[in-house]
Amino acid sequence: MDLDSHYRNRKVLITGGLGFLGSNLALDLAAKGAEITILDSLHHWYGGNHFNIEPISDRVRLISGDLRDVELVHEAIEGQELVFHIAAQTSHVDSMTSPLFDVEVNCRGTILLLEAMKELAPGARLVYAGTRAQIGKLDYTPVDEKHGAFPVDIYGVNKHAGELYAFVYMNAHGIPATSLRINNSYGPRHQMKHGKYGILNWFIRLAMDGGTIRIFGEGNQLRDYNHVDDVTRAFLAAGASDAAPGQVYNLGCGDPISFREMVKAIIETTGSGRYEHVPWPKEREDIEVGDYVADFSKATRELEWTPRVPFQKGLEETVAFYREHQVHYWSKQIS
Ligand SMILES: NC(=O)c1ccc[n+]([C@@H]2O[C@H](COP(=O)([O-])OP(=O)(O)OC[C@H]3O[C@@H](n4cnc5c(N)ncnc54)[C@H](O)[C@@H]3O)[C@@H](O)[C@H]2O)c1
Repeated sequence: MDLDSHYRNRKVLITGGLGFLGSNLALDLAAKGAEITILDSLHHWYGGNHFNIEPISDRVRLISGDLRDVELVHEAIEGQELVFHIAAQTSHVDSMTSPLFDVEVNCRGTILLLEAMKELAPGARLVYAGTRAQIGKLDYTPVDEKHGAFPVDIYGVNKHAGELYAFVYMNAHGIPATSLRINNSYGPRHQMKHGKYGILNWFIRLAMDGGTIRIFGEGNQLRDYNHVDDVTRAFLAAGASDAAPGQVYNLGCGDPISFREMVKAIIETTGSGRYEHVPWPKEREDIEVGDYVADFSKATRELEWTPRVPFQKGLEETVAFYREHQVHYWSKQIS
């Protein structure tokens, strides 16, 4: 699949395009010559950051505002050929304390977007940012796409609803939709304000600041960690492949490590910080799923996607990025 020619001059909307995944995807798309529109609310809890798209800011049409603002969504969607729906309420913990806000953004916001696509861009494709949180606790591992969905938090339920809405609009209204169930991702351009999501990135900040990383329990749970470059490559493949409409794809790394090993690698790579084991806080223990390892062979077969960035190399590059651009990410911590 020649992604360069596929995306050249293609009209693409990225919701949440100022955040971590969205901005890295925008940089890739800009390098391929796509015509990019970003819709982003820059809500202060999330990762939206103008600096994320600074190298391409003159080549992006930026619409600042909320996914739930129908007029703005109409303005953003008209004439698009492809929509990457990435904006979301992204915190598992906040979804439990403010469940209706999660419904507002992740359910109502997704339906408003789909309605706008139906009316104003009926031929456009959709690639949806799904999540491993849709699955919840595993019956078996590695988890494939046939595994049942038993989310343990409101975020997981609502992200799953968003995926199902997308397929309803595909069946009923012909919008070709694909969902990528993203695993734990890390890399440049993540928010570094709090550890409510994107925990690996947050630990990099703690270690760089010489702080203490707290591991809940023993930290033996296995996790897949994907560098953001591998994730954006999967989005590009899903948006271009003829096999992708109607499909769900897991992303994973093929080389899972324990949570504790991940923390140790960060401390070694940054050369600072320490860790300690503490008991699980109840609100975290309630939504902890144990080992999570993904079977991504379907993405390999149908999208020709495999993760390429080795964990240690990705970590070193990520730390180097935040050392160079710390001033743009080390804003006041929020809780
Ligand atoms: N990063 C991961 O490890 C991971 C894992 C699984 C799934 N995901 C999914 O990927 C997507 C992006 O995650 P991220 O890590 O880039 O988060 P992020 O916080 O960096 O980006 C989210 C972006 O969406 C914007 N946004 C939030 N609510 C909005 C609204 N109502 N209207 C318009 N814009 C809004 C934010 O301003 C932000 O720029 C989410 O859908 C998330 O569920 C991420």
